[in-house]
Amino acid sequence: MTQIKKICCIGAGYVGGPTMAVIAQKNPQIQVTVVDINEERIAAWNNADLSKLPIYEPGLDTVVAEARGRNLFFDTNVDKAIDEADMIFISVNTPTKTYGKGKGMAADLKYIELCARQIARVAKTDKIVVEKSTLPVRTAQAIKRILDQTGNGVSYQILSNPEFLAEGTAIQDLMNPDRVLIGGEESDTGREAIEALASVYGAWVPQERILRTNVWSSELSKLTANAFLAQRVSSINAISELCEASGADVNEVAKAIGMDSRIGSKFLKASVGFGGSCFQKDIFNLVYIAKTYGLDEVADYWEQVIIMNDFQKRRFAERIVTTLFNTVNDKKIAFLGWAFKKDTNDTRESAAIYVANDLMEEEAQIHVFDPKVTEQQMLTDLDYLNTRSSEANRKHLTVHQDPYTALENAHGIAVLTEWDEFKTYDWQRIYNKMQKPAFVFDGRNILDRKQLEQIGFEVYSIGAANIK
Ligand code: UDX
Ligand code: ADP
Repeated sequence: MTQIKKICCIGAGYVGGPTMAVIAQKNPQIQVTVVDINEERIAAWNNADLSKLPIYEPGLDTVVAEARGRNLFFDTNVDKAIDEADMIFISVNTPTKTYGKGKGMAADLKYIELCARQIARVAKTDKIVVEKSTLPVRTAQAIKRILDQTGNGVSYQILSNPEFLAEGTAIQDLMNPDRVLIGGEESDTGREAIEALASVYGAWVPQERILRTNVWSSELSKLTANAFLAQRVSSINAISELCEASGADVNEVAKAIGMDSRIGSKFLKASVGFGGSCFQKDIFNLVYIAKTYGLDEVADYWEQVIIMNDFQKRRFAERIVTTLFNTVNDKKIAFLGWAFKKDTNDTRESAAIYVANDLMEEEAQIHVFDPKVTEQQMLTDLDYLNTRSSEANRKHLTVHQDPYTALENAHGIAVLTEWDEFKTYDWQRIYNKMQKPAFVFDGRNILDRKQLEQIGFEVYSIGAANIK
Protein backbone atom coordinates (compact mmCIF):
# COMPACT_ATOMS: atom_id res chain seq x y z
CA MET A 1 0.00 0.00 0.00
CA THR A 2 1.14 3.55 -0.78
CA GLN A 3 2.46 5.20 2.37
CA ILE A 4 1.82 8.92 2.30
CA LYS A 5 4.84 10.95 3.43
CA LYS A 6 4.02 14.42 2.19
CA ILE A 7 0.66 16.12 1.82
CA CYS A 8 -0.03 19.42 0.12
CA CYS A 9 -3.30 21.27 0.51
CA ILE A 10 -4.16 24.02 -1.95
CA GLY A 11 -6.40 26.58 -0.20
CA ALA A 12 -5.94 27.75 3.39
CA GLY A 13 -9.58 28.60 4.09
CA TYR A 14 -12.26 27.43 6.50
CA VAL A 15 -12.03 23.88 5.20
CA GLY A 16 -8.36 23.45 4.28
CA GLY A 17 -6.89 25.13 7.36
CA PRO A 18 -8.63 23.24 10.18
CA THR A 19 -8.68 19.92 8.29
CA MET A 20 -4.95 19.94 7.61
CA ALA A 21 -4.18 21.08 11.15
CA VAL A 22 -5.94 18.02 12.53
CA ILE A 23 -4.45 15.63 9.94
CA ALA A 24 -0.98 16.95 10.85
CA GLN A 25 -1.59 16.74 14.58
CA LYS A 26 -2.73 13.11 14.31
CA ASN A 27 -0.03 12.05 11.81
CA PRO A 28 3.28 13.50 13.08
CA GLN A 29 5.17 11.35 10.54
CA ILE A 30 3.47 13.07 7.58
CA GLN A 31 4.64 16.50 6.46
CA VAL A 32 1.61 18.66 5.71
CA THR A 33 1.99 21.92 3.77
CA VAL A 34 -0.98 24.22 3.30
CA VAL A 35 -0.53 26.68 0.45
CA ASP A 36 -2.54 29.65 -0.70
CA ILE A 37 -2.05 32.46 -3.21
CA ASN A 38 -3.36 34.89 -0.61
CA GLU A 39 -0.17 36.07 1.12
CA GLU A 40 -1.99 37.87 3.88
CA ARG A 41 -3.88 34.72 4.79
CA ILE A 42 -0.71 32.63 4.92
CA ALA A 43 1.01 35.28 7.04
CA ALA A 44 -1.93 35.15 9.44
CA TRP A 45 -1.69 31.34 9.68
CA ASN A 46 2.00 31.79 10.58
CA ASN A 47 1.34 34.49 13.16
CA ALA A 48 3.09 33.75 16.46
CA ASP A 49 0.05 35.17 18.23
CA LEU A 50 -2.46 32.32 17.98
CA SER A 51 -5.41 34.64 18.58
CA LYS A 52 -4.64 36.19 15.18
CA LEU A 53 -5.18 33.08 13.02
CA PRO A 54 -7.32 34.01 9.99
CA ILE A 55 -10.10 31.70 11.10
CA TYR A 56 -11.77 31.55 14.45
CA GLU A 57 -12.72 28.04 15.56
CA PRO A 58 -12.81 26.88 19.18
CA GLY A 59 -9.80 24.59 19.82
CA LEU A 60 -8.04 25.39 16.54
CA ASP A 61 -5.27 27.38 18.27
CA THR A 62 -4.23 24.39 20.42
CA VAL A 63 -4.01 22.06 17.43
CA VAL A 64 -2.00 24.60 15.42
CA ALA A 65 0.27 25.27 18.39
CA GLU A 66 1.15 21.59 18.61
CA ALA A 67 1.73 20.83 14.92
CA ARG A 68 2.88 24.07 13.33
CA GLY A 69 6.62 24.08 12.63
CA ARG A 70 6.81 20.36 13.48
CA ASN A 71 5.04 18.82 10.50
CA LEU A 72 2.48 21.50 9.63
CA PHE A 73 3.54 24.38 7.39
CA PHE A 74 1.76 27.31 5.77
CA ASP A 75 3.34 28.69 2.62
CA THR A 76 2.71 30.69 -0.54
CA ASN A 77 4.98 28.57 -2.75
CA VAL A 78 2.30 26.45 -4.41
CA ASP A 79 4.51 24.86 -7.08
CA LYS A 80 7.10 23.60 -4.61
CA ALA A 81 4.47 22.02 -2.35
CA ILE A 82 2.76 20.33 -5.33
CA ASP A 83 6.08 19.01 -6.60
CA GLU A 84 7.05 17.45 -3.29
CA ALA A 85 3.71 15.94 -2.27
CA ASP A 86 2.42 12.37 -2.77
CA MET A 87 -1.11 13.53 -2.04
CA ILE A 88 -2.67 16.88 -2.96
CA PHE A 89 -5.91 18.16 -1.46
CA ILE A 90 -7.81 20.73 -3.49
CA SER A 91 -9.56 22.96 -1.00
CA VAL A 92 -10.18 26.13 -2.93
CA ASN A 93 -13.41 28.07 -3.09
CA THR A 94 -16.21 27.07 -5.45
CA PRO A 95 -18.55 30.06 -5.35
CA THR A 96 -21.85 30.19 -7.18
CA LYS A 97 -21.38 31.55 -10.70
CA THR A 98 -22.09 35.26 -10.99
CA TYR A 99 -22.05 35.37 -14.78
CA GLY A 100 -22.98 33.46 -17.92
CA LYS A 101 -24.70 30.10 -18.13
CA GLY A 102 -25.90 28.86 -14.77
CA LYS A 103 -25.48 32.33 -13.23
CA GLY A 104 -26.69 32.36 -9.63
CA MET A 105 -26.89 28.56 -9.51
CA ALA A 106 -24.05 26.53 -10.92
CA ALA A 107 -20.78 26.22 -9.02
CA ASP A 108 -17.98 28.24 -10.55
CA LEU A 109 -15.23 25.72 -11.15
CA LYS A 110 -12.72 28.26 -12.37
CA TYR A 111 -10.48 27.93 -9.32
CA ILE A 112 -10.64 24.14 -9.38
CA GLU A 113 -9.64 24.04 -13.02
CA LEU A 114 -6.77 26.46 -12.39
CA CYS A 115 -5.54 24.15 -9.64
CA ALA A 116 -5.78 21.11 -11.89
CA ARG A 117 -3.79 22.86 -14.61
CA GLN A 118 -1.19 23.99 -12.12
CA ILE A 119 -0.79 20.43 -10.81
CA ALA A 120 -0.54 19.13 -14.39
CA ARG A 121 2.18 21.65 -15.18
CA VAL A 122 4.28 21.06 -12.07
CA ALA A 123 3.95 17.37 -11.19
CA LYS A 124 6.83 15.08 -12.12
CA THR A 125 5.85 12.08 -10.00
CA ASP A 126 2.59 10.16 -9.51
CA LYS A 127 0.02 11.94 -7.35
CA ILE A 128 -3.19 11.23 -5.56
CA VAL A 129 -5.44 14.27 -5.98
CA VAL A 130 -8.20 14.68 -3.42
CA GLU A 131 -11.24 16.89 -4.00
CA LYS A 132 -12.06 18.47 -0.68
CA SER A 133 -14.12 21.43 -1.83
CA THR A 134 -17.80 20.75 -2.38
CA LEU A 135 -18.18 19.97 -6.03
CA PRO A 136 -20.95 19.05 -8.42
CA VAL A 137 -21.22 15.38 -9.22
CA ARG A 138 -18.80 14.30 -11.99
CA THR A 139 -16.23 17.06 -11.39
CA ALA A 140 -13.59 14.42 -10.77
CA GLN A 141 -13.94 13.40 -14.38
CA ALA A 142 -13.10 16.93 -15.55
CA ILE A 143 -10.10 17.12 -13.23
CA LYS A 144 -8.88 13.75 -14.45
CA ARG A 145 -9.14 14.72 -18.10
CA ILE A 146 -7.17 17.90 -17.55
CA LEU A 147 -4.48 16.05 -15.59
CA ASP A 148 -4.21 13.13 -18.01
CA GLN A 149 -4.12 15.23 -21.15
CA THR A 150 -2.02 18.21 -20.13
CA GLY A 151 0.27 16.56 -17.61
CA ASN A 152 3.85 15.35 -17.91
CA GLY A 153 2.81 11.75 -18.42
CA VAL A 154 2.69 10.94 -14.71
CA SER A 155 -0.30 9.02 -13.43
CA TYR A 156 -3.04 10.45 -11.25
CA GLN A 157 -5.70 9.03 -9.00
CA ILE A 158 -8.60 11.30 -8.18
CA LEU A 159 -10.44 10.86 -4.90
CA SER A 160 -13.49 12.65 -3.56
CA ASN A 161 -13.34 13.26 0.18
CA PRO A 162 -16.06 15.78 1.02
CA GLU A 163 -15.95 17.74 4.23
CA PHE A 164 -18.78 17.37 6.71
CA LEU A 165 -17.41 19.67 9.37
CA ALA A 166 -19.69 22.45 10.51
CA GLU A 167 -18.14 25.80 11.32
CA GLY A 168 -17.93 26.67 14.97
CA THR A 169 -17.50 22.98 15.80
CA ALA A 170 -14.92 22.17 13.10
CA ILE A 171 -12.27 20.78 15.43
CA GLN A 172 -14.75 18.65 17.35
CA ASP A 173 -16.28 17.39 14.07
CA LEU A 174 -12.85 16.56 12.66
CA MET A 175 -11.70 14.80 15.83
CA ASN A 176 -14.83 12.72 16.11
CA PRO A 177 -16.57 12.50 12.74
CA ASP A 178 -19.85 10.60 12.25
CA ARG A 179 -18.24 9.27 9.10
CA VAL A 180 -15.44 9.97 6.66
CA LEU A 181 -16.40 9.49 3.04
CA ILE A 182 -13.83 8.52 0.43
CA GLY A 183 -14.88 8.04 -3.18
CA GLY A 184 -12.46 6.58 -5.71
CA GLU A 185 -12.13 4.86 -9.03
CA GLU A 186 -13.36 1.26 -9.14
CA SER A 187 -10.01 -0.30 -10.12
CA ASP A 188 -6.99 -1.74 -8.29
CA THR A 189 -5.08 1.53 -8.39
CA GLY A 190 -8.26 3.38 -7.41
CA ARG A 191 -8.74 1.14 -4.39
CA GLU A 192 -5.08 1.55 -3.44
CA ALA A 193 -5.47 5.34 -3.46
CA ILE A 194 -8.60 5.06 -1.31
CA GLU A 195 -6.69 2.94 1.22
CA ALA A 196 -3.78 5.41 1.26
CA LEU A 197 -6.16 8.19 2.30
CA ALA A 198 -8.07 5.87 4.64
CA SER A 199 -4.84 5.20 6.50
CA VAL A 200 -4.28 8.94 7.03
CA TYR A 201 -7.71 9.18 8.70
CA GLY A 202 -7.16 5.78 10.31
CA ALA A 203 -4.66 7.49 12.64
CA TRP A 204 -7.67 8.54 14.71
CA VAL A 205 -10.93 7.50 13.04
CA PRO A 206 -12.22 3.94 13.59
CA GLN A 207 -12.23 1.94 10.34
CA GLU A 208 -15.97 1.24 10.45
CA ARG A 209 -16.61 4.97 10.19
CA ILE A 210 -14.59 5.29 6.99
CA LEU A 211 -16.97 4.74 4.07
CA ARG A 212 -15.55 3.78 0.69
CA THR A 213 -17.72 4.52 -2.37
CA ASN A 214 -17.39 5.31 -6.03
CA VAL A 215 -16.48 8.91 -6.87
CA TRP A 216 -19.94 9.96 -8.00
CA SER A 217 -21.71 8.68 -4.90
CA SER A 218 -19.26 10.55 -2.74
CA GLU A 219 -19.67 13.83 -4.63
CA LEU A 220 -23.46 13.58 -4.65
CA SER A 221 -23.65 12.55 -0.96
CA LYS A 222 -22.14 15.83 0.10
CA LEU A 223 -24.74 17.89 -1.78
CA THR A 224 -27.49 15.60 -0.58
CA ALA A 225 -26.45 15.80 3.09
CA ASN A 226 -26.52 19.60 3.01
CA ALA A 227 -29.78 19.69 1.08
CA PHE A 228 -31.44 17.41 3.67
CA LEU A 229 -30.16 19.50 6.59
CA ALA A 230 -31.21 22.78 5.00
CA GLN A 231 -34.58 21.29 4.14
CA ARG A 232 -35.22 20.55 7.82
CA VAL A 233 -34.48 24.14 8.80
CA SER A 234 -36.76 25.45 6.06
CA SER A 235 -39.47 22.99 7.06
CA ILE A 236 -39.49 24.08 10.70
CA ASN A 237 -39.28 27.74 9.63
CA ALA A 238 -42.34 27.22 7.44
CA ILE A 239 -44.15 25.87 10.47
CA SER A 240 -42.94 28.83 12.57
CA GLU A 241 -45.15 31.25 10.66
CA LEU A 242 -48.13 28.95 11.12
CA CYS A 243 -47.39 28.86 14.86
CA GLU A 244 -47.37 32.64 15.06
CA ALA A 245 -50.77 32.77 13.40
CA SER A 246 -52.39 29.90 15.27
CA GLY A 247 -51.20 30.11 18.86
CA ALA A 248 -48.89 27.10 18.74
CA ASP A 249 -45.28 27.54 19.88
CA VAL A 250 -42.67 26.33 17.41
CA ASN A 251 -40.23 25.26 20.15
CA GLU A 252 -42.88 22.99 21.60
CA VAL A 253 -43.75 21.63 18.18
CA ALA A 254 -40.07 21.02 17.42
CA LYS A 255 -39.62 19.21 20.71
CA ALA A 256 -42.68 17.08 20.17
CA ILE A 257 -41.79 15.96 16.67
CA GLY A 258 -38.06 15.75 17.44
CA MET A 259 -38.73 13.09 20.06
CA ASP A 260 -40.03 10.82 17.33
CA SER A 261 -36.89 8.78 16.80
CA ARG A 262 -37.70 8.51 13.10
CA ILE A 263 -37.41 12.30 12.84
CA GLY A 264 -34.82 13.08 15.50
CA SER A 265 -34.12 16.34 17.30
CA LYS A 266 -31.30 17.93 15.30
CA PHE A 267 -31.72 20.80 12.83
CA LEU A 268 -35.18 21.72 14.03
CA LYS A 269 -34.31 25.06 15.56
CA ALA A 270 -36.50 27.75 14.04
CA SER A 271 -34.48 30.81 13.13
CA VAL A 272 -34.31 33.93 11.03
CA GLY A 273 -32.99 31.64 8.29
CA PHE A 274 -29.98 29.51 7.53
CA GLY A 275 -26.75 30.96 6.21
CA GLY A 276 -23.21 29.74 5.67
CA SER A 277 -21.08 28.92 2.71
CA CYS A 278 -22.67 25.55 1.96
CA PHE A 279 -26.43 25.24 2.24
CA GLN A 280 -27.62 27.75 -0.34
CA LYS A 281 -24.75 27.12 -2.71
CA ASP A 282 -25.10 23.36 -2.58
CA ILE A 283 -28.85 23.40 -3.06
CA PHE A 284 -28.56 25.73 -6.06
CA ASN A 285 -25.98 23.35 -7.36
CA LEU A 286 -28.32 20.40 -6.89
CA VAL A 287 -31.13 22.33 -8.59
CA TYR A 288 -28.85 23.18 -11.48
CA ILE A 289 -27.69 19.60 -11.91
CA ALA A 290 -31.30 18.37 -11.85
CA LYS A 291 -32.21 20.93 -14.53
CA THR A 292 -29.25 19.90 -16.65
CA TYR A 293 -30.64 16.38 -16.66
CA GLY A 294 -34.10 17.77 -17.55
CA LEU A 295 -35.56 16.88 -14.14
CA ASP A 296 -37.66 20.00 -13.65
CA GLU A 297 -39.88 18.73 -10.83
CA VAL A 298 -36.85 17.60 -8.87
CA ALA A 299 -35.25 21.00 -9.42
CA ASP A 300 -38.38 22.88 -8.30
CA TYR A 301 -38.73 20.70 -5.22
CA TRP A 302 -35.28 21.58 -3.90
CA GLU A 303 -35.46 25.20 -4.99
CA GLN A 304 -38.42 25.66 -2.68
CA VAL A 305 -36.07 25.13 0.30
CA ILE A 306 -34.20 28.29 -0.75
CA ILE A 307 -37.38 30.23 -1.49
CA MET A 308 -38.61 29.44 2.02
CA ASN A 309 -35.32 30.59 3.49
CA ASP A 310 -35.37 33.90 1.62
CA PHE A 311 -38.93 34.43 2.75
CA GLN A 312 -38.01 33.83 6.40
CA LYS A 313 -35.29 36.51 6.31
CA ARG A 314 -37.59 38.99 4.57
CA ARG A 315 -40.43 38.22 6.95
CA PHE A 316 -38.19 38.97 9.94
CA ALA A 317 -37.21 42.38 8.55
CA GLU A 318 -40.84 43.17 7.74
CA ARG A 319 -41.85 42.19 11.25
CA ILE A 320 -39.41 44.73 12.66
CA VAL A 321 -40.79 47.48 10.44
CA THR A 322 -44.47 46.78 11.13
CA THR A 323 -43.87 46.46 14.86
CA LEU A 324 -42.00 49.76 15.00
CA PHE A 325 -45.17 51.52 13.88
CA ASN A 326 -44.52 50.98 10.18
CA THR A 327 -41.45 53.16 9.99
CA VAL A 328 -37.79 52.67 10.82
CA ASN A 329 -36.66 55.80 8.97
CA ASP A 330 -33.66 57.17 10.90
CA LYS A 331 -34.38 54.86 13.81
CA LYS A 332 -31.55 53.06 15.53
CA ILE A 333 -31.90 49.29 15.14
CA ALA A 334 -29.25 47.39 17.06
CA PHE A 335 -28.05 44.00 15.80
CA LEU A 336 -26.57 41.44 18.15
CA GLY A 337 -24.49 39.24 15.88
CA TRP A 338 -23.51 39.30 12.24
CA ALA A 339 -21.87 35.86 11.75
CA PHE A 340 -24.07 33.16 10.16
CA LYS A 341 -23.91 31.17 13.40
CA LYS A 342 -22.12 31.33 16.73
CA ASP A 343 -18.45 30.50 17.33
CA THR A 344 -17.28 31.53 13.89
CA ASN A 345 -16.17 34.75 12.23
CA ASP A 346 -17.59 33.55 8.91
CA THR A 347 -20.38 35.71 7.50
CA ARG A 348 -21.01 34.10 4.14
CA GLU A 349 -24.76 34.17 3.34
CA SER A 350 -25.50 35.24 6.91
CA ALA A 351 -29.14 36.20 7.47
CA ALA A 352 -27.90 39.40 9.15
CA ILE A 353 -26.69 40.78 5.81
CA TYR A 354 -30.11 40.44 4.20
CA VAL A 355 -32.06 41.72 7.19
CA ALA A 356 -29.74 44.75 7.43
CA ASN A 357 -30.14 45.36 3.72
CA ASP A 358 -33.94 45.29 3.90
CA LEU A 359 -33.95 47.67 6.86
CA MET A 360 -31.54 50.02 5.14
CA GLU A 361 -33.96 50.16 2.22
CA GLU A 362 -36.36 51.57 4.81
CA GLU A 363 -33.69 54.11 5.83
CA ALA A 364 -32.94 52.58 9.22
CA GLN A 365 -29.64 53.15 11.03
CA ILE A 366 -28.11 49.76 11.80
CA HIS A 367 -25.73 49.45 14.77
CA VAL A 368 -23.98 46.13 15.10
CA PHE A 369 -22.05 44.28 17.74
CA ASP A 370 -20.52 40.88 16.90
CA PRO A 371 -17.77 39.38 19.09
CA LYS A 372 -15.69 38.13 16.14
CA VAL A 373 -16.67 39.86 12.89
CA THR A 374 -14.76 42.96 11.75
CA GLU A 375 -16.35 46.16 10.47
CA GLN A 376 -14.49 45.73 7.20
CA GLN A 377 -16.15 42.35 6.68
CA MET A 378 -19.65 43.71 7.35
CA LEU A 379 -19.16 46.49 4.83
CA THR A 380 -17.78 44.06 2.26
CA ASP A 381 -20.85 41.85 2.76
CA LEU A 382 -23.23 44.76 2.18
CA ASP A 383 -21.30 46.10 -0.80
CA TYR A 384 -21.37 42.63 -2.34
CA LEU A 385 -25.19 42.76 -2.51
CA ASN A 386 -24.89 45.77 -4.77
CA THR A 387 -28.14 47.31 -3.53
CA ARG A 388 -26.70 50.78 -2.95
CA SER A 389 -23.37 52.59 -3.16
CA SER A 390 -20.76 51.65 -0.63
CA GLU A 391 -20.87 55.22 0.59
CA ALA A 392 -24.57 54.78 1.38
CA ASN A 393 -23.83 51.51 3.16
CA ARG A 394 -21.28 53.31 5.34
CA LYS A 395 -23.85 55.96 6.20
CA HIS A 396 -26.33 53.36 7.42
CA LEU A 397 -23.99 51.06 9.33
CA THR A 398 -22.18 51.67 12.62
CA VAL A 399 -20.08 48.94 14.14
CA HIS A 400 -19.41 48.83 17.88
CA GLN A 401 -16.70 47.19 19.96
CA ASP A 402 -18.92 47.23 23.02
CA PRO A 403 -22.41 45.70 23.08
CA TYR A 404 -23.86 48.21 25.53
CA THR A 405 -23.01 51.22 23.36
CA ALA A 406 -24.43 49.38 20.35
CA LEU A 407 -27.73 48.96 22.20
CA GLU A 408 -27.96 52.38 23.83
CA ASN A 409 -30.89 54.48 22.63
CA ALA A 410 -32.00 51.80 20.19
CA HIS A 411 -35.65 51.59 19.16
CA GLY A 412 -35.31 47.88 18.64
CA ILE A 413 -32.80 45.08 19.17
CA ALA A 414 -32.53 42.21 16.71
CA VAL A 415 -30.66 39.02 17.63
CA LEU A 416 -29.18 37.60 14.43
CA THR A 417 -26.56 35.17 15.76
CA GLU A 418 -26.91 32.81 18.72
CA TRP A 419 -23.66 33.81 20.52
CA ASP A 420 -23.86 32.51 24.11
CA GLU A 421 -22.67 35.77 25.64
CA PHE A 422 -25.86 37.58 24.56
CA LYS A 423 -27.80 35.57 27.13
CA THR A 424 -25.62 36.81 29.98
CA TYR A 425 -25.96 40.55 29.31
CA ASP A 426 -27.45 42.88 31.90
CA TRP A 427 -30.82 43.23 30.22
CA GLN A 428 -32.19 45.57 32.91
CA ARG A 429 -29.35 48.00 32.19
CA ILE A 430 -30.03 47.68 28.47
CA TYR A 431 -33.74 48.33 28.97
CA ASN A 432 -33.10 51.47 31.01
CA LYS A 433 -31.13 53.04 28.19
CA MET A 434 -33.44 52.18 25.29
CA GLN A 435 -36.19 54.09 23.53
CA LYS A 436 -39.63 53.02 24.78
CA PRO A 437 -41.51 50.89 24.05
CA ALA A 438 -38.36 48.72 23.99
CA PHE A 439 -38.59 45.98 21.38
CA VAL A 440 -36.51 42.83 21.11
CA PHE A 441 -36.70 40.65 17.98
CA ASP A 442 -35.09 37.37 18.88
CA GLY A 443 -34.24 35.82 15.52
CA ARG A 444 -32.57 32.88 17.24
CA ASN A 445 -34.92 32.24 20.15
CA ILE A 446 -32.05 32.28 22.64
CA LEU A 447 -33.20 34.90 25.14
CA ASP A 448 -35.37 34.24 28.15
CA ARG A 449 -38.62 35.74 26.93
CA LYS A 450 -40.39 35.73 30.31
CA GLN A 451 -37.50 37.48 32.03
CA LEU A 452 -37.34 40.16 29.33
CA GLU A 453 -41.09 40.74 29.48
CA GLN A 454 -40.89 41.16 33.24
CA ILE A 455 -38.31 43.89 32.77
CA GLY A 456 -40.69 45.62 30.36
CA PHE A 457 -39.48 44.61 26.90
CA GLU A 458 -41.87 43.73 24.15
CA VAL A 459 -40.48 40.52 22.73
CA TYR A 460 -40.96 38.92 19.34
CA SER A 461 -39.55 35.39 18.99
CA ILE A 462 -39.62 33.23 15.90
CA GLY A 463 -42.65 30.96 15.86
CA ALA A 464 -44.19 32.13 19.13
CA ALA A 465 -47.79 33.24 18.97
CA ASN A 466 -48.32 36.94 19.24
CA ILE A 467 -52.02 36.61 19.82
CA LYS A 468 -52.94 38.63 22.88
C1 UDX B 1 -22.97 22.83 7.06
C2 UDX B 1 -23.08 21.32 7.31
O1 UDX B 1 -23.65 21.09 8.59
C3 UDX B 1 -21.73 20.67 7.18
O2 UDX B 1 -21.84 19.28 7.36
C4 UDX B 1 -21.20 20.98 5.80
O3 UDX B 1 -20.01 20.36 5.53
C5 UDX B 1 -21.09 22.48 5.62
O4 UDX B 1 -22.35 23.07 5.79
P1 UDX B 1 -22.20 24.94 8.47
O5 UDX B 1 -22.59 25.74 7.27
O6 UDX B 1 -20.89 25.22 9.10
O7 UDX B 1 -22.19 23.39 8.10
O8 UDX B 1 -23.29 25.17 9.60
P2 UDX B 1 -24.59 24.41 10.16
O9 UDX B 1 -24.37 24.16 11.59
O10 UDX B 1 -24.99 23.28 9.33
O11 UDX B 1 -25.69 25.57 10.07
C6 UDX B 1 -26.10 26.14 8.83
C7 UDX B 1 -27.10 27.25 9.06
O12 UDX B 1 -28.37 26.74 9.48
C8 UDX B 1 -26.68 28.26 10.12
O13 UDX B 1 -27.00 29.57 9.71
C9 UDX B 1 -27.48 27.85 11.32
O14 UDX B 1 -27.68 28.90 12.22
C10 UDX B 1 -28.78 27.39 10.66
N1 UDX B 1 -29.54 26.42 11.48
C11 UDX B 1 -29.01 25.20 11.78
C12 UDX B 1 -30.82 26.75 11.93
O15 UDX B 1 -31.31 27.84 11.66
N2 UDX B 1 -31.52 25.83 12.67
C13 UDX B 1 -31.02 24.60 12.98
O16 UDX B 1 -31.72 23.83 13.64
C14 UDX B 1 -29.72 24.28 12.53
P1 ADP C 1 -13.64 27.17 2.11
O1 ADP C 1 -14.73 27.56 3.06
O2 ADP C 1 -14.12 26.22 1.06
O3 ADP C 1 -12.40 26.70 2.79
P2 ADP C 1 -12.33 29.73 1.56
O4 ADP C 1 -12.77 30.81 0.62
O5 ADP C 1 -12.31 30.00 3.03
O6 ADP C 1 -13.28 28.48 1.24
O7 ADP C 1 -10.88 29.23 1.16
C1 ADP C 1 -10.43 28.96 -0.12
C2 ADP C 1 -8.99 29.44 -0.27
O8 ADP C 1 -8.46 28.94 -1.50
C3 ADP C 1 -8.80 30.96 -0.31
O9 ADP C 1 -7.95 31.36 0.75
C4 ADP C 1 -8.16 31.23 -1.70
O10 ADP C 1 -7.18 32.25 -1.67
C5 ADP C 1 -7.52 29.89 -2.01
N1 ADP C 1 -7.28 29.65 -3.45
C6 ADP C 1 -8.16 29.76 -4.47
N2 ADP C 1 -7.58 29.44 -5.65
C7 ADP C 1 -6.30 29.08 -5.38
C8 ADP C 1 -5.16 28.63 -6.18
N3 ADP C 1 -5.26 28.45 -7.50
N4 ADP C 1 -4.00 28.36 -5.55
C9 ADP C 1 -3.90 28.53 -4.21
N5 ADP C 1 -4.91 28.94 -3.41
C10 ADP C 1 -6.09 29.21 -3.98
